[in-house]
Amino acid sequence: MDYWNHNVHYQPVILESVPPGCGVALDVGCGDGMLACKLAARCAEVTGIDRDTRMITLARERAKASALANVEFVEADFRGYPLNEDTFDFVCANTSLHHMDFAAALTELARVLRPGGHLAIVGLAADKSAGDRIVGATGIPAVLFYRMTRRKAGPGGVPIMDPEMSWREVRATAQRILPGVRYRRHLMWRYSLRWRKPA
Ligand SMILES: C[S@@+](CC[C@H](N)C(=O)[O-])C[C@H]1O[C@@H](n2cnc3c(N)ncnc32)[C@H](O)[C@@H]1O
Repeated sequence: MDYWNHNVHYQPVILESVPPGCGVALDVGCGDGMLACKLAARCAEVTGIDRDTRMITLARERAKASALANVEFVEADFRGYPLNEDTFDFVCANTSLHHMDFAAALTELARVLRPGGHLAIVGLAADKSAGDRIVGATGIPAVLFYRMTRRKAGPGGVPIMDPEMSWREVRATAQRILPGVRYRRHLMWRYSLRWRKPA
């Protein structure tokens, strides 16, 4: 069942980054599989990976309920999971990289992407300066509007944690590991990264 929350709100940033004719795609920290199932309409094959047993169970139920044959879910820790280099046409992660070592995760995402492939990430960062808090406060009216007009929901028991890296640290690390990456800070407390691996 679909629902609204901040992660879902920013799924279009990821979906709009899928290249036309996408072959194989990977969603890291896929949670209950809503995004992966949407990717299945745009990609030939989709793999969602999550280390949480309940999330993978929900994701498999979602794919089955939609009779999607081109999406599979792997219950595993992305860190150290054996994925071949230069494999995926599209790799994404929605609000999961702050659960991992960010630099190591970005390096691994870039490694498994095929040359010319596209990467799209939506993530959380921490307010560590007065400037960060001022920018964050500008999102409050939008957050209140959506809370009043949408039913904010999500699967119970989804693993969450607070981000440790600041927006500035996220941006600098991404620019170091993914030269030419497009970083954007969004109104409702998310950043996005979009990058194409050099062909
Ligand atoms: C905040 S949830 C986001 C879930 C989903 N992407 C969404 O947008 O609703 C973060 C997810 O990342 C998963 N996760 C965290 N660290 C992971 C790791 N090392 N390997 C695989 N999954 C991980 C958690 O189990 C959780 O489902």
